[in-house]
Amino acid sequence: MFRCMTRRVCGGGIVCPAFVLPCSHSPSWNLRHTGDKSQQCLAERRWQCSVRLLSSAAEGRRALPSAFPVLDQPLQPIHQHVYEANLRNSATCHKRYTELREKVRKGGGDNAIARHTQRNRKLLVKDRLRLLLDDEDFLELSPLAGLGLAYGDIPSAGCLTGIGKINGLWCMFIANDATVKGGTAYPITVKKQLRAQEVAIQNRLPCVYLVDSGGAFLPLQSEIFPDKNQGGRTFYNEAIMSAMKIPQVSVVCGSCTAGGAYIPTMAEETVMVHRIGTIFLGGPPLVKAATGEEVTPEDLGGARLHAEVSGCVDHFAREEREAYEYTRNIISTLNYQLPEEEEVEKGRKKRPEEEPLYSSEELLGLAPLNYNYSIDVKMVISRLTDGSRFQEFKARYGTTLVTGFARIHGHLVGILANNGQLSYEAALKGSHFVQLCDQRDVPLLFLQNTAPTPALTLSTTQAEMNSNRLKAQGSMISAVACASVPKVTVVIGGCHGADSYAMCGRAFDPNFLFLWPNARVSVVAPGHADSLLPPGGEEEENKQKEEMNVRLKDESSAFFSSGRLWDDGVILPQDTRKVLRDCLDIIKQQQYQLSTHKLRSPLLRM
Ligand code: COA
Repeated sequence: MFRCMTRRVCGGGIVCPAFVLPCSHSPSWNLRHTGDKSQQCLAERRWQCSVRLLSSAAEGRRALPSAFPVLDQPLQPIHQHVYEANLRNSATCHKRYTELREKVRKGGGDNAIARHTQRNRKLLVKDRLRLLLDDEDFLELSPLAGLGLAYGDIPSAGCLTGIGKINGLWCMFIANDATVKGGTAYPITVKKQLRAQEVAIQNRLPCVYLVDSGGAFLPLQSEIFPDKNQGGRTFYNEAIMSAMKIPQVSVVCGSCTAGGAYIPTMAEETVMVHRIGTIFLGGPPLVKAATGEEVTPEDLGGARLHAEVSGCVDHFAREEREAYEYTRNIISTLNYQLPEEEEVEKGRKKRPEEEPLYSSEELLGLAPLNYNYSIDVKMVISRLTDGSRFQEFKARYGTTLVTGFARIHGHLVGILANNGQLSYEAALKGSHFVQLCDQRDVPLLFLQNTAPTPALTLSTTQAEMNSNRLKAQGSMISAVACASVPKVTVVIGGCHGADSYAMCGRAFDPNFLFLWPNARVSVVAPGHADSLLPPGGEEEENKQKEEMNVRLKDESSAFFSSGRLWDDGVILPQDTRKVLRDCLDIIKQQQYQLSTHKLRSPLLRM
């Protein structure tokens, strides 16, 4: 499902068959089934007007000055014990994080790198990105995906994805790493590519594909081929994205075999590199087997053939460097306005940004090791927001959830941060606040740290309390699911059970979801296996519980989660403010890119 992300910039969700449910804000939805075309047109036009009105109203709001109160949250001696335990845990997590990043950096290993660069004369992905993007400061998505899987370690899941600037415009890139088994697609590769497309759709980002892939990883073909969210979905998305006016550019800088051949062929504009790029459905060995004919890859599907004869590509690049220049120039033709340009045009000065009053390094000692709430989550907030300022909402009610407004690098956000159990009152407050932000078009930031909450029912009073909490949490879950504003979630501690839903876990479509390395993700928190297992003989029961707790501990690690792509990556606590700035910049950019509110026909290659 895909909804429009903000009503004032709605466009993505109005009529999007790719995501089944159209935008709930579109009045034309109700009319679509009536078949009354004139009514539909009228509603569509009214809707577009209201979009514009909302837009100018929202702009007015943005201009309002604010001086939120400062959260005075210095570290106190009373915090020392917990702070130091957290710090030690953060150091262990950081060590693991560095080891995994190093593993990913090596890609397919020294031999594969030598084969790629020396024999095949191709650039490594990081060098390609250096030529493509304005600078190396990009937001990489799920770099640890593919590690620790049942079928082995697949560094970067065989393809790098992320968001970087090209000529000042944030663009999604999806780049195969051919040093990892010839850039072939494992199940996790497909999942990563689909997630990147989803992020591009949700944030309306132009997409650049750097294709260098041997197609399906054949030993696992049954896990990547026929199902809905498998290989074919990439091509389906390409068409839908084009119809939504999300531009897609492709660079063929290696093999594009079999299914991979459709990526450049379906892209709106494609550049192909001479002597390096090939596009064919079956390679020379297949031709030889079928017809006995010997043919070179270049003659069968090289850049010259596709640029001059088949028309599958649009630009012939003599070498890789030239291909990225072409691509950067193509991006310049997209006719998008950058947020900064519009601000300058309107004579608005950039709002001065304040740094937090406290060092972001202190977040390492605030990243919870256990469910220890002796450190107030406001200490985390005060290390993330501009000037450590925070306009708290309902400060005295449902205090186990902290809600309020702040700015992060100048962007206004509504923050919801767990500060203990999501109680009945906290969930009611959460629903109220989410709707408030939705009403005001303010993006939401969830700082998730859910507490394990055994719902004991030993008395009628307890049963009643549990039911009330269930109802309030259900309402908050609905409010979060239906809020049309962009959402970013950072799991700073635990992500367990229903609290994770109410706090915008993965299933709730946040635009971005990141984990701190100390985070734990599982239905039940490690150490709480009692609530899962049926009663049994004492010895047997204890053994089972112990085994389950060990399993929960292993499987709830942030690295286990990120390896499986349940998130957009593990980020270091001290980098959170910068990552949030990038996310909010990217989210803001979408407001400036829409020139249609309707799903059109995709661009077709003639
Ligand atoms: N499935 C599984 N493994 C594959 C593969 C595939 N489709 N394509 C390549 N590999 C493996 C190779 O066996 C090799 O593994 P190794 O490192 O363990 O020896 C590794 O990927 C690199 O392949 P190699 O051929 O040595 O590298 P290359 O750079 O010379 O060529 C390709 C890369 C992708 C161009 C070439 O391997 C190729 O054409 N593969 C077949 C592509 C194909 O027909 N795909 C159809 C899928 S539907």
